[in-house]
Amino acid sequence: MCGITGYIGYDEAAPILIRALKKLEYRGYDSAGVAVIDGEKIFVRKMKGRIELLDKSLLEAPLSGTVGIGHTRWATHGEPSDINSHPHTDSEGRIAIVHNGIIENYVKLKQWLQSRGVVFRSDTDTEVIVHIINYFYRASGGAMLDAVLETLKLLNGSYALAILSSDYPDRIIAARKDNPLVAGLGKNGVFIASDIPALLEHTRDVIFLNDGEVAVLYRDHIELRGGDGEALKRETTHIDWDIDSAEKGGYPHFMLKEIFEQPKAMSDALGPRLKKDASANAIIDFDEVKLDERWTQARRIVITACGTAYHAGIIGKYAFERLARVPVEVDIASEYRYRDPVFDRNDVVIVISQSGETADTLAAMRLAKQNGAQVFAITNAPGSTLSREADAVIYTYAGPEIGVASTKAFTTQVMCVYLLALELGRLRGCVSAPAYRRYTAALSAIPNQARQILDKKELLQRFAARHFNKAKVFFMGRQFDYPVSMESALKLKEISYTHSEAFAAGELKHGPIALVDSSTLVAAIATQRALFEKIASNIREVTSRGAASLVITWQGVDSFDTVSDEVFTLPETEGCLSPLLSVIPSQLFAYYCAVQRGNDPDKPRNLAKSVTVE
Ligand code: G6P
Repeated sequence: MCGITGYIGYDEAAPILIRALKKLEYRGYDSAGVAVIDGEKIFVRKMKGRIELLDKSLLEAPLSGTVGIGHTRWATHGEPSDINSHPHTDSEGRIAIVHNGIIENYVKLKQWLQSRGVVFRSDTDTEVIVHIINYFYRASGGAMLDAVLETLKLLNGSYALAILSSDYPDRIIAARKDNPLVAGLGKNGVFIASDIPALLEHTRDVIFLNDGEVAVLYRDHIELRGGDGEALKRETTHIDWDIDSAEKGGYPHFMLKEIFEQPKAMSDALGPRLKKDASANAIIDFDEVKLDERWTQARRIVITACGTAYHAGIIGKYAFERLARVPVEVDIASEYRYRDPVFDRNDVVIVISQSGETADTLAAMRLAKQNGAQVFAITNAPGSTLSREADAVIYTYAGPEIGVASTKAFTTQVMCVYLLALELGRLRGCVSAPAYRRYTAALSAIPNQARQILDKKELLQRFAARHFNKAKVFFMGRQFDYPVSMESALKLKEISYTHSEAFAAGELKHGPIALVDSSTLVAAIATQRALFEKIASNIREVTSRGAASLVITWQGVDSFDTVSDEVFTLPETEGCLSPLLSVIPSQLFAYYCAVQRGNDPDKPRNLAKSVTVE
């Protein structure tokens, strides 16, 4: 999730851009850069690493000029490097852009540009944008705004853009679709940024751009346009938050913000892979990994990971076995690396890690490689050790996750796993064409359904207010609900410090029930329709022993109404895709319990975001 800034005014731009970029640091980044117009030329300074490095370089050799754009990059396409950093310029260096988002059809656009002789310097999806703007700019005889509007029509995916042209040093053009942009008029000029904290030093009266809108910033005013160039009017919004809460986009904690980012994150993970074939049917296609014979002929899939990523792996086991009928073994990476596992050259090994730096996960990957396996990584971190050493990488596109307890990184991992399992199922002839259509349609609906769950957050807040002090909380479920129970219990213990455990509901009588008493809350995840009766019996068994209960199930299901104290309902999806939705209430419950207990959910005691040592 990159950060964008822009300034046009009466003061030196570079120091203003750097200060603004520092305010966007929380978004996570691996490189930074600025472009400034000095007279009639654009000068770019950009580099991999911290903003301080860029700042130092600008102090040593300043870029002068009162118009500029800046960027912090979180790599998605192409590793973190000086070349891949933004701003990117056209071949003649007369147009410069910064971009936040993902251009899903960039491969096609790049091929088209290359066939017209354009030479690309970076591996980014962004670079296509600047070359296309240049193409339309030349074709239109110098109409910059028209060139931008034409370009936007060709882009699939998401973007927030700020664009400089040395032919028009009196303006910056900005545009957004599915990524935030906010503009503000200050005393010394006009500003644009990905988020409010970058503007607060200069103004508290801001204009939020909506999707499809374009803003043209001049030194003393802002013009807002629609997608066809029509003039729009917008009232300014007065911001009265303090700076700290502004950095969290108005959310009290990063974790809550990230829980709420899940619809977009899942849609970012899905969008670039769910394409249309020649007959306009949905088809899953990973540009980065071809599901060749190694996959279709595999006798076994091995998945290894730690923590939350391990739970994504277990969902992977259920998904690959259900949809593609391949046996799957899932192993905690720290076990896999030491337990002397049996290797088979025909295995497909999938390693899942949000950070791509977890010590045990890296060791497991290296062990598998040493023994002849080809390793496929699912990670959120381009440039990470895992992404560099694995044979192929699937990125989750969750954007940076600041809260230690993983939420959107998890649901995007699960989304990637489903896409792989479903496509493999199709290739192996295990998923019929109608079923494939049903599943792909269901996946497309997930982000919106996730939004509907988030809209009901108050129900979980109230439930947490009643139960946050329980001595023990158990989560139980069957089939796909079992790994979700495991992830739910992990979330709760991580941030609320409540003793919490998960078990397969069928195991209740084999031990856990001995612990059940009136100090216990038992939450059942119940999305597998064929097993509702069994789960209802399990709930009766615990409530009759004094436990409080919660059931998470589909809307319209009444099987639990008379059995459980509380029922939280979800919009229904295919049973085997349920984890993408059913985990969200548990994340919210864990979050609200932590807040009720006075804990900081973003920084739970004793835990680290990335465990790079054993
Ligand atoms: C730590 C984090 C967890 C994460 C796990 C694995 O325990 O706190 O949120 O799931 O490491 O991390 P990875 O980066 O490999 O997914």
